[in-house]
Amino acid sequence: MERRKSTGPKASRPRKRPKVDIAKTALGAEPEKRGLKQPIEKKGKAKAPEAASAAPGGQREFSVNVKTARKRSHSSTLWLHRQLNDPFVARAKAEGYRSRAAYKLLELNEKFGLIGKGARVVDLGSAPGGWCQVAVKAGAEKVVGIDYLGMPPVPGADVLELDFLDDEAPEKLKKLLGGEADVVLSDMAAPTTGHKATDHLRIVALAETALDFAEDVLAPGGSFACKVFQGGAEGEFLTRLKRDFTSVKHAKPKASRAESAEMYVVATGFRGRSE
Ligand SMILES: C[S@@+](CC[C@H](N)C(=O)[O-])C[C@H]1O[C@@H](n2cnc3c(N)ncnc32)[C@H](O)[C@@H]1O
Repeated sequence: MERRKSTGPKASRPRKRPKVDIAKTALGAEPEKRGLKQPIEKKGKAKAPEAASAAPGGQREFSVNVKTARKRSHSSTLWLHRQLNDPFVARAKAEGYRSRAAYKLLELNEKFGLIGKGARVVDLGSAPGGWCQVAVKAGAEKVVGIDYLGMPPVPGADVLELDFLDDEAPEKLKKLLGGEADVVLSDMAAPTTGHKATDHLRIVALAETALDFAEDVLAPGGSFACKVFQGGAEGEFLTRLKRDFTSVKHAKPKASRAESAEMYVVATGFRGRSE
């Protein structure tokens, strides 16, 4: 067999497996192209979470094993394993949704009838675009999103690539919206620091800022749905919601992972701004 010639001290060994772009998992390529193997193997360092239990349709699916790779951390391997064995990820891929999160909004919309035909919708924390897709499909007339992460365009939606906490964000969103909104959605999650108290404060602050904006742009009768954590909306935030909306409910859609403290607060029937 011919040996590979060294071309000097800088010569590097050929890569053994293609580079895995984990950010594209929900949209992505075949598992085999990602250096992954089916079916699941028992050995290996990563003790992966219980795989692919029941698919959304009720049937069980094969589990995909993720091999450890030199440059991938243990937590990334676990994340990738969970993604590849998640029935909502598979369903999103099959049905053309950008994210598994799309199924959370689909369920909330079915339960609370948030997005009617011709609705004007604001989507805070919109990347990679699943909720925008759902809003457009539900018949919204105007869909405006914002995220500090970029995302490919969603036909029928206008998305700002900007931090929602930026001073200019509310005005820019209002300009894009060009009038009042019927629905303000927030799926934003503040990046965690690992310090529980700090993380909690940041989450609450983000939800409160989303509510400030919602109350500034919602038409009377409008709705606000917002991701919250740790037992749901609490304290002043909840008091304010109950004061300003006729109905306030908590919901944990099936696509929201059971082990996550994430849930949604859905407030409908905005009473309007007191001028
Ligand atoms: C769970 S993802 C949203 C998924 C989206 N609903 C979908 O269906 O594709 C949360 C998003 O919130 C965004 N986000 C968090 N904080 C933000 C902020 N301050 N301004 C803008 N976007 C933010 C993150 O960048 C992330 O893309």
